[in-house]
Amino acid sequence: MVRPAGPGTGTDGSAGEFSLHGARIVVRTGALRDAAALVRECAPDGRPVVIADDNVAPLHAAPIAAALGADLLTFPAGESSKVRAQWAALSDELLERQLGRDTVVVAVGGGVCGDLAGFVAATYLRGVPVVQVPTSLVAMIDAAIGGKTGVDTRYGKNLVGAFHQPALVLIDPLALRTLPANHRRAGLAEAIKHGVIADEAYFHWIAAHGAALLSSALVDDVAAHLVLGSVAVKVPVVAGDEREGGRRRILNFGHTIGHAIEHLSNYEILHGEAVAIGMIAEARLGELAGWTLPGLADEIRDVCATVGLPVCIPSALDADAVIALTRGDKKAQAGVAEYALPLRLGEMNAGGGRYALAVDESLVHAALAATR
Ligand SMILES: NC(=O)c1ccc[n+]([C@@H]2O[C@H](COP(=O)([O-])OP(=O)(O)OC[C@H]3O[C@@H](n4cnc5c(N)ncnc54)[C@H](O)[C@@H]3O)[C@@H](O)[C@H]2O)c1
Ligand SMILES: [Zn+2]
Repeated sequence: MVRPAGPGTGTDGSAGEFSLHGARIVVRTGALRDAAALVRECAPDGRPVVIADDNVAPLHAAPIAAALGADLLTFPAGESSKVRAQWAALSDELLERQLGRDTVVVAVGGGVCGDLAGFVAATYLRGVPVVQVPTSLVAMIDAAIGGKTGVDTRYGKNLVGAFHQPALVLIDPLALRTLPANHRRAGLAEAIKHGVIADEAYFHWIAAHGAALLSSALVDDVAAHLVLGSVAVKVPVVAGDEREGGRRRILNFGHTIGHAIEHLSNYEILHGEAVAIGMIAEARLGELAGWTLPGLADEIRDVCATVGLPVCIPSALDADAVIALTRGDKKAQAGVAEYALPLRLGEMNAGGGRYALAVDESLVHAALAATR
């Protein structure tokens, strides 16, 4: 069911290798055991230093650092570490060790670590290579692929950063076994999104495997199929549009309303949870605008419910406030919110090649009301 992602890439159903803007992306069960060898293969003369948060450090990063004979730098787990102060602290730790241009940053962890350590690598001595070793589902299928790095500011998330393609992305779906269920669920929202935007069969596979995907005894081939299916969607989308000028925008499906909900909840609603609600509301919006095949919003709602994702906008969140925030979204043009909307499962509305559609706000109101 997993399709090869394009020239020079391929999967055999349980493992896959992809190539993206100079990054080698390896997806393989048990790959973490070979991490040191793969890092050395990709940077034979490099001097690796491993960065991880304090949850992932003992679980997955310490063995890699030991095998590499590298120092392990840690920071407190959580989004609050994805800030300039932590970027500065980690950069200073590298400077203190007098690490030179042969430094290779190995980021082991979730999206926070990948974005933060990736940004450290992007700027250290004007840029040194980074190896991404994503261990959360969000990081495996989203954050580690595409080269976006950066930190949050008090003005908003991800507002200071750089595009910095990794030299190597090493994905071991087995690392998901230790990931807490709420974070696995949040990642599943992005996987469902990948199905909606480009792979109908993958969407149905997730629907059929909801319980197995959440089980604490996550089975090897289920984990591998999940990760490979999503990576096989994201890689070709990013490959064709590195700087998000066109089709890459389809990855924003669910995110215009999702970001607003996430922000209004003061980030108490996890990003993936907000994206689940956002996808349902935006599919309804597409239906109301006459672009989306009727029934798709309900289909997305049912799959999200199967994996325990929220499917309604919390009553405390005011529709006007949601809409006001969508106007200030990064994707908005001159204060007008833009949406990536599906035509049907697996196909998005190209909107004249911009893949971003402005919609009458009265329809947004109606879509939000229908998602309560
Ligand atoms: N760069 C991009 O393109 C991109 C894309 C999507 C998301 N992001 C960013 O990613 C971040 C969210 O990523 P996240 O959800 O991975 O958050 P996270 O890095 O905070 O990880 C979530 C939690 O899971 C823990 N964890 C991670 N892997 C684990 C494992 N295998 N076992 C046990 N615990 C584990 C972490 O310590 C953390 O507590 C956000 O900052 C978001 O902006 C970036
Ligand atoms: Zn997202």
